[in-house]
Amino acid sequence: MAMESKPSIGRLWCLLFFFFFFFFFSFFRCSSSLPSAHPLRSVVDQINERGPFVGLVMAYSAEADAVESSGWFVPANAQPYVDLYGRRFHIGTIRGVHVVYVMSGQRRLNAGITVQILLDVFSVRGIVHFGTAGSANDSISFGDVSVPKFAAFTGSWTWKKFNSLKGSSNQEISFSEYNVPAEGKNLLSTVEFKPEELYSVGQPMKEVFWLPVNSRWFQIAEKLEVELERCANKTYCLPNTPKVVFGLKASTADVFLDNAAYRKFLFKKFGVSTVDEESAAVIMTAISPAVPVIVFRGVSDLAGGEAHWSSTSLSDLASLNALKVAVKFIEVLGRKEHLLLGKD
Ligand SMILES: *[C@@H]1O[C@H](CO)[C@@H](O)[C@H](O)[C@H]1NC(C)=O
Ligand SMILES: *[C@@H]1O[C@H](CO)[C@@H](O)[C@H](O)[C@H]1NC(C)=O
Repeated sequence: MAMESKPSIGRLWCLLFFFFFFFFFSFFRCSSSLPSAHPLRSVVDQINERGPFVGLVMAYSAEADAVESSGWFVPANAQPYVDLYGRRFHIGTIRGVHVVYVMSGQRRLNAGITVQILLDVFSVRGIVHFGTAGSANDSISFGDVSVPKFAAFTGSWTWKKFNSLKGSSNQEISFSEYNVPAEGKNLLSTVEFKPEELYSVGQPMKEVFWLPVNSRWFQIAEKLEVELERCANKTYCLPNTPKVVFGLKASTADVFLDNAAYRKFLFKKFGVSTVDEESAAVIMTAISPAVPVIVFRGVSDLAGGEAHWSSTSLSDLASLNALKVAVKFIEVLGRKEHLLLGKD
């Protein structure tokens, strides 16, 4: 009886140990790494001791070149990169903030896979995604940078039968309306746009069309003031200084869009301002485990709406401008979290 009502010193120690181990293990459960048998396990563990990192993700070479040539990324002295699953994860800092940057490769699957590796292997506090885009909005032109609030995957369709009835969703494109010289019948009929199945922690599967970036990060981004580049090289400069636009809608598909009619359709039907091939995938992969994510896309082309430029001649300028905004964001994020942690 006495033992039960009055715990001995030994029992208190036992309780203390219990709590110690509880916190110890719950801490390590939260951090990331590779499976214990993986040859790079200890390398990654050492890298993660420097974290948490901002995961900076881009899709293709012009965008990765912008990071490399800018000099804004400072590689770590020890272990400046690690190669995993065919991709190179660069370890270092941008404006004093710990960053892992990686080029995913183009289109949705590469983007999703790469973000998932980042989240699983590295101790990551959030994903910053930047790259180029086509503009579908006549008020947004070459070199401008869009910081969208939402992105939709517009490449998942129900392809309907010829002469099928008009759907109730109204999220359709009917090919007959695009016959030339006049509207008529078209055997390609109609496609209906489908929402994505979003699986996320603590929630049942949800069908969503618009995937949101992190609202707290968006609020931080919205206040950024960044001077963008106007000149592609010594001989060509844009007529106006590019601008950063906030809160618009982006669309993603495994399609390089270079078609004026479809560009106009996306703008009119969905209010899409930029088109790309990865943003929605990056957002979806990050929001599934509730990790913050934000997107910066620089306009390299008009998705088929342009009169003069070929669709890729301004991609270096667009990459650099998107990177500039992303870097400014990382800098401000670092300062804010510094304040939050009481380090200033
Ligand atoms: C198109 O871009 C302009 C300029 O940023 C913006 O004010 C407008 O809201 C955009 N249109 C849509 C439908 O988002
Ligand atoms: C400068 O950039 C423009 C636009 O991308 C391009 O058409 C032109 O060839 C470039 N000139 C030089 C000298 O690189």
